[in-house]
Amino acid sequence: MSILSKFKLENKTAIVTGAARGLGMAMAIGLAEAGANIVIPDIDYEEARKTASEIAELGVETLALKTDVTDEEDVSRMVAETLERFGQIDILINNAGICKHIPAEEMSKKDWEEVINVNLTGVFLCAREVAKPMIKAKKGSIINIASMSGYIINYPQPQVSYNASKAGVIHLTKSLAAEWAKYNIRVNAIAPGYMKTKMTAQFLEKKPEMKEFWVAPTPMKRMGKPEELQGAAVYLASDASSFMTGNVLIIDGGYTVY
Ligand SMILES: NC(=O)c1ccc[n+]([C@@H]2O[C@H](COP(=O)([O-])OP(=O)(O)OC[C@H]3O[C@@H](n4cnc5c(N)ncnc54)[C@H](O)[C@@H]3O)[C@@H](O)[C@H]2O)c1
Repeated sequence: MSILSKFKLENKTAIVTGAARGLGMAMAIGLAEAGANIVIPDIDYEEARKTASEIAELGVETLALKTDVTDEEDVSRMVAETLERFGQIDILINNAGICKHIPAEEMSKKDWEEVINVNLTGVFLCAREVAKPMIKAKKGSIINIASMSGYIINYPQPQVSYNASKAGVIHLTKSLAAEWAKYNIRVNAIAPGYMKTKMTAQFLEKKPEMKEFWVAPTPMKRMGKPEELQGAAVYLASDASSFMTGNVLIIDGGYTVY
């Protein structure tokens, strides 16, 4: 098989959580361009439907679902409805995530738990449920969207629950990779740096001066564009990365080198 054909995802089904917009949407488009059918579970069902119909124009099948990744019943239904429609799940990108900027000493248990529940528990629940059919099929690729915040502490904004959740995602990735290698399921992560999405825009709208703190220590002197994660997503989803598991691709314009 030639190297470029190993990147192809035709006849594969990919679930990308939280792909109604932002990084998830960009990665879903990348997988669709490589040939995969796409499932978009998102709490924002209207946006998910719009994105699903846009992606369908690329010539693949798509399905939008109303799913809260923190809700076990929703996650079970996500897997059941995907299997009903497509008969298989080959790829899961655990992308849904949230961030709160609150000083640690002022953070309520509720705010702490909301972030941990979506970013860490949600990743675990989706991985656990999707692994069940993958174990039966004896194949699969799971990609968790961590962050450079799992390695470094962002400055100047205080985001303790986010940073802790993303460090958790990195170790969860390694743990699941170790457990599920025997089933031919690979589990890897992508750790983006500062990317231009609604998540970062909502913070920059309130404090535009933060951008300089984000960009100045980035060797490439800019924020990333969502489509700049597409190559990594297709690589990790496909047979091009067949000997890679339990690892993390850091895509941050060099922010973590200093
Ligand atoms: N933007 C960045 O700079 C950046 C950097 C590193 C990592 N990340 C991570 O990338 C992922 C995507 O971030 P983004 O910037 O595209 O964010 P975004 O806010 O633009 O999009 C997040 C999507 O997730 C959905 N979502 C939120 N909570 C959900 C839930 N409980 N169940 C299902 N869907 C839910 C939202 O409706 C939205 O469609 C997140 O995990 C984020 O932590 C982002």
